Amino acid sequence: MTLTEIMETLPYGPAPEAAQPAMDWLKAHKGKFQLFIAGKWRNPASKEWFTTINPATAQKLAEVAQASAADVDEAVKAARKAFAGWSQTKGHVRARYLYAMARQIQKHARLFAVLETLDNGKPIRETRDIDIPLVARHFYYHAGWAQLMESELAGYAPLGVVGQIIPWNFPLLMLAWKVAPALAMGNTVVLKPAEFTPLTALLFAEICQNIGLPPGVVNIITGDGKTGAALVEHPGVDKIAFTGSTEVGRIIRKATAGSGKKLSLELGGKSPFVVFEDADLDSAVEGVVDAIWFNQGQVCCAGSRLLVQEGIAEKMYTKLRARMEKLRVGDPLDKAVDIGAIIAPVQLQKIQQLVQKGVEEGAKLWQPSWAVPAEGCFYPPTLFTEVAPASTIAQEEIFGPVLAALTFRTPEEAVRLANNTRYGLAASIWSEDINLALDVATQIKAGTIWINSTNLFDAASGFGGYRESGFGREGGKEGLWEYVKKIEQHRTAQGQTSSARGLTARASAESLPPIDRTAKLFIGGKQVRPDSGYSKAVYAPDGRLVGEVGLGNRKDIRNAVEAARSAQEGWRKTAAHSKAQILYFLAENLSQRAEEFARRLSEQTGQDGGAEVEAALEALFTAAAWADKYEGLVHPTPLRNVTLAIPEPIGVMGILCPDDQPLLALARLAGTALAMGNTLVVVPSPLAPLSATDFYQVLETSDVPAGTLNIVTGERDELALTLAEHDDVDAVWYAGPQAGWALVEKASAGNMKRTWILPSSGPLPDTDEILRQATQVKNIWVPYGA
Ligand code: NAI
Ligand code: MG
Repeated sequence: MTLTEIMETLPYGPAPEAAQPAMDWLKAHKGKFQLFIAGKWRNPASKEWFTTINPATAQKLAEVAQASAADVDEAVKAARKAFAGWSQTKGHVRARYLYAMARQIQKHARLFAVLETLDNGKPIRETRDIDIPLVARHFYYHAGWAQLMESELAGYAPLGVVGQIIPWNFPLLMLAWKVAPALAMGNTVVLKPAEFTPLTALLFAEICQNIGLPPGVVNIITGDGKTGAALVEHPGVDKIAFTGSTEVGRIIRKATAGSGKKLSLELGGKSPFVVFEDADLDSAVEGVVDAIWFNQGQVCCAGSRLLVQEGIAEKMYTKLRARMEKLRVGDPLDKAVDIGAIIAPVQLQKIQQLVQKGVEEGAKLWQPSWAVPAEGCFYPPTLFTEVAPASTIAQEEIFGPVLAALTFRTPEEAVRLANNTRYGLAASIWSEDINLALDVATQIKAGTIWINSTNLFDAASGFGGYRESGFGREGGKEGLWEYVKKIEQHRTAQGQTSSARGLTARASAESLPPIDRTAKLFIGGKQVRPDSGYSKAVYAPDGRLVGEVGLGNRKDIRNAVEAARSAQEGWRKTAAHSKAQILYFLAENLSQRAEEFARRLSEQTGQDGGAEVEAALEALFTAAAWADKYEGLVHPTPLRNVTLAIPEPIGVMGILCPDDQPLLALARLAGTALAMGNTLVVVPSPLAPLSATDFYQVLETSDVPAGTLNIVTGERDELALTLAEHDDVDAVWYAGPQAGWALVEKASAGNMKRTWILPSSGPLPDTDEILRQATQVKNIWVPYGA
């Protein structure tokens, strides 16, 4: 035998990491953990406890308190009490605490890694080299933002008490993603870890004690979905941040609707892994391993759909099968193991059922020749080929080590297949042609795109979804906006509010006779009659009839959405410079008719119409100015890599306008949304819709492409509901009375569209907020190096 032959035939010997330090820690606590509230450990009011197990052995690790609604209440109260002091604590002091957390995590990295592996079942190689180092990185990074908040986020304040609910797949990492930015921005936190994996969060609570964090700034309450629901519903919580299933995300969206609570949701995915025929196939195969067999495939952004160009598909599958044959599944504490245990029997069953479904639906199953350990929760790496695009395994999140492969012929087809999903969390693109890769990257609807790489994460890069993968970002500067609000007095107040309505009606307006004309709707670039055939009277504040507008209904909204959708692609791709030109042209044409608009405004609102027209012109100029200046960022992530954070349009938006300053509201809200590349269905204020309907003629003469801006008049809440329920609408901004807030937020849960709630009167939001609401950030990772 030659030396090479000996090397090749040597069997692996196990190389287990010692579990002892973690077992000692559990023993020191007598295997029982209370709730961490107001800096102290206390028993749950429920007197109930639950068990957390090691999924690799099915052995019990510890008993953990089940927090009841009463405990949640205590935790929220503690956080509220602590908020008074913490929000006033200087950024530099908060930075020191976050820095201390990072240091403590590094000092106890081994204990954290082993404990995480025991509680979750993921390989020690991952907890040691990925989870825990990234946790420390998040605290360091956000220590920096705490330090810089006063200068870089001037005019913004913390929200208050934040309720955070996290899943079991990256227990401590998800804690870090949530706790670090919240504390950095001066919020206090009540965090609920997942019931399968509470232990590292409890160890983190000890760290908070050890570094002398003021009591109540961080509260950790363990429990199941009931505890989570109680936190979501607690009136003392100002924001909910959730990561988990789309199903629960939808429940939370509905539960918080109308409550005024800020919400960010990071939900499921079915992310495409696209391999073009010029890709480096060996690298792509290693990419697949990281994409779908990292953390047993229990990753929200797992590359679970392999889209491979037809000409190289068989070659790719052959290489992949050879690689799969060599993967090692087993004891997660073994440093030579690639794939650990599935989190729980219930998850294992879900995987088995979906795989069964895949076979029944006709896809071709392949698994390695070896068997997984019979004890504990294990599942082998699995490849499905000949998968139909509409089949269950191509559409549903399996959350296990199962890859579904499909083929495509052209880049256009690849984009179509990639976007053929209700999700939009991430995508991975493999090609040696950077032109092709970036072109496809801009067309895939997902929050993170990795080029020739996959599953890269860093605190400096934002992470979050498009579509039903949720909204909001975690990480990067973009993630900070989830934890702050604008300080009210920083708003620039334009004009008076509705309370002044009717007090300053101008004599000149009163002397004019009403114009008897019923305005139509404006859909697809044309003035059309409302489907109902009815119209609606518009009155001046003094009760005089000033005109009539069409009474739009569901059908009109559907037509308008269809028009906006058809126009979306073209408008999104219109050069920023051209968008700006069109907005300037709108302003120009409006100014030509300034007097007419001023008169009409005064009639409808009793306010100084001339001043409002001037403000509207300025708003259109501001929107035009931003069209080619709202820039992204380049995040300095630590690899040899550029990470481009690019603001993209959200898509088709519904905008329900406020009652005050109807023309300015239209110009500011719709103008800015258009500047960012969205196409719109605008519902003018029902009290003062005539300036919007007069605007049709300005639109018709201003080169705004048909369908880009559609206007439907009618009953606000009826039309709002149709827009919020519509699955082809990507966002709804609703300015209106409080009764409508819940209506819109609840209905939006259908396709998880983004919503933005505004009061029906009072000053309009500042442009920076509107710009952020009109865009979503896509992070494109481009590694380099020969
Ligand atoms: P889940 O969404 O039920 O659990 C996530 C967290 O939400 C846990 O802390 C849980 O206690 C809490 N929760 C459950 N019901 C709640 C409610 N009504 N209100 C507030 N909080 C609630 O996820 P689960 O049941 O652990 O896994 C089910 C499926 O969800 C998985 O098979 C997987 O497909 C998906 N999932 C996706 C994750 C992601 O990161 N995208 C993470 C975990 C699961
Ligand atoms: Mg466990």
